[in-house]
Amino acid sequence: MTVKIDTREILDFMLNLSAIAGEILMSHFAHELTVESKDHRVGGIDIVTNADKAAEDAIVSGIRDRFPDHDVMAEETERQVSGSSWLWVIDPLDGTVNFAHSYPHFAVSIALMEEGEIVAGVVSDPLKKETYHAVRGLGAFLNDRRISVSKATTLNRSIIGTGFPYDKAFTSDNNLTEFSRVLPKVQGMRRLGSAALDLAYVASGRLDGFWELKLKPWDIAAGILIVDEAGGCVTDRFGDGMDLGSPSILATNGLIHTDMIRTLNMPEPL
Ligand code: IPD
Ligand code: CA
Ligand code: CA
Repeated sequence: MTVKIDTREILDFMLNLSAIAGEILMSHFAHELTVESKDHRVGGIDIVTNADKAAEDAIVSGIRDRFPDHDVMAEETERQVSGSSWLWVIDPLDGTVNFAHSYPHFAVSIALMEEGEIVAGVVSDPLKKETYHAVRGLGAFLNDRRISVSKATTLNRSIIGTGFPYDKAFTSDNNLTEFSRVLPKVQGMRRLGSAALDLAYVASGRLDGFWELKLKPWDIAAGILIVDEAGGCVTDRFGDGMDLGSPSILATNGLIHTDMIRTLNMPEPL
């Protein structure tokens, strides 16, 4: 049975959780951290810190208290599925490598899905005091201001974000080919280090587009809805519909989407 949830109430709850997590992150930022490698197969570069864990604990326990029947998928916690129609998708710290280097660009990302559809999303940058949110059908916002995607119509007037997977040293499927196709065509490229904020930046027009390979559901769930609600376009790199398990994502203002698909998939010169 699907239980109706009041949208304003749920959004306030999500904004509150992201604010709590943001305060926890800020209390650790630029201080000494405990850093562990999560996956030794990628040379130990995929890390988790005590800040990731503390922020995630606060978010997950807030959800468990308020919605004990809901399912939760959070990056640092083993997933337990009960078959609820509600699923929370959480990245407590997107941009951990930035954070561990005191590089000031990272976010908390929280999304809520109902029956497999993303219905609400919050991406917050506690350092810049910028919180992006969207509820399906109600538009996208940066703090209290409604946002929309940029109006760039050509790649040579576009600034494009991307990122590289943690296994980049061990596979040729590491985005270098795609990067080398796009770089010559665009006004500028950025590798900012937080996919959740990259999507939020597409939504607010700071970036005209963003693509990446091999992202995880928690990196993109909230950001996808925010781009959608800001009038942007989100597909996989081939222009096909995507879900949270897709091996690639392409998000743009819509106007440069076809050119981005063509460029990303350009045949190699003979
Ligand atoms: C990472 C960031 C980064 C992206 C990586 C992600 P994490 O998330 O979003 O921008 O390039 O692929 O894994 O590990 O900092 O939560
Ligand atoms: Ca992430
Ligand atoms: Ca993370």
